[in-house]
Amino acid sequence: MTATQGTLEARTATHKTLVDSLSAALSRREAKSARRRLTVLPRTAVDFSSNDFLSLSTSSAYRERFLALLNNTPPSFPLASGGSRLLDGNSACAEELENFVAAFHQAPTALLFNSGYDANVGALSSIPQPGDVILYDELIHASAHEGMRLSRAGPRKMFAHSSPIGLKEVLQSQIAEDPAVAEGTRNVFILIESIYSMDGDVAPIKEFIAVVDELLPHGNGYFYVDEAHATGVFGPRGAGVVQELGVQDRMFIRVHTFGKALASHGAMVLCGPETRDYLINYARSLIYTTALGFPFLASIRAAYELLSSGETETLQRRLQELIRHLRLRLDGLHTYQSVMFEVDHFPTSPIISLSNIATTTAGESLPGKRIHCPSYHAADDSRGKGTGAGVLACGKHRGRNRWFDADDSVVARSKS
Ligand SMILES: Cc1ncc(COP(=O)(O)O)c(C=O)c1O
Repeated sequence: MTATQGTLEARTATHKTLVDSLSAALSRREAKSARRRLTVLPRTAVDFSSNDFLSLSTSSAYRERFLALLNNTPPSFPLASGGSRLLDGNSACAEELENFVAAFHQAPTALLFNSGYDANVGALSSIPQPGDVILYDELIHASAHEGMRLSRAGPRKMFAHSSPIGLKEVLQSQIAEDPAVAEGTRNVFILIESIYSMDGDVAPIKEFIAVVDELLPHGNGYFYVDEAHATGVFGPRGAGVVQELGVQDRMFIRVHTFGKALASHGAMVLCGPETRDYLINYARSLIYTTALGFPFLASIRAAYELLSSGETETLQRRLQELIRHLRLRLDGLHTYQSVMFEVDHFPTSPIISLSNIATTTAGESLPGKRIHCPSYHAADDSRGKGTGAGVLACGKHRGRNRWFDADDSVVARSKS
């Protein structure tokens, strides 16, 4: 055997071993009913899982504004950004958009990232300084975990979901462990979402502020709030929960994402000017990636123009009607077969959580229609048909719900 053949065989053997390991990992997931798959929705499906809460992506007003912004540029206007924001990917258009969004959200400044994922990874991996403490809600999004994992922070402690008492306990134990926390010389970050993507509840932000004011009177508590699911849906003209509560000045960082109710892509970190400057220098998910091109800037701009002109308020009201409608129908099903699931719903939230696994479903209230409902959103479906009235029952919480059609075949699984 020649040396080349030997290397080739060794490589093939390694390759086989690797593929075998990958397949074994997938089989283990399969055995736990946790294997993820890409699915294309059947055209007849009613979609309960879209984040397009306001149906903006099919709104003619949105489309017209977006196309007008595109058409108003000269023919040679570059559609691509051409590079990272730090090279030639920056533009007056991107900076104007940041100023517009910052003003809308009553924030000192805003910094555009390519996605909410990038914003959380970039900000959380860079801003907490060595040894800083991070306290995070147990249901915080995966991108925040990723940012924390990469950060130089010291202790990262979880507190019970949306529980001011839980936060208080964890903070008290941190104070007992580390005098620098009580003295105000150690920074403590508190990570929350304003609306949680799986459970749909609205965080008790004012109560969290009261805990931090009581236990960290030197001002070393820094709130980081992800408003991904609140953007466009909650607050004055869709500005978010923080502005609804009037506590924007108490948040060190707010993250608004544009891939959900705003029918676009990208995200902005709202923060003070020094923090923005720091992110430009240290957030690797901003520095080492090609900036969003003009079509994305235009679509974000179109969405924010609609929000700030009040044109989306009708859609916000319509969403609330759909939420009430879906809630009523779910309550009806619950009465009909209460063993199958429990509805856990925060009033006015577009995300409805169901709990308790049911392995089968049928009955006259189920139309045998295919339903896509991994996270039970009350949004209009993306084809604009409105919320489906016939709901199939399913099981649980925290990422493992399964939905069944009338033949008991799984038609959708929840996000995890
Ligand atoms: C709370 C939260 N933050 C961040 C993200 C990520 O946002 P994007 O989809 O823009 O990457 C999501 C997306 O699901 C989310 O639910």
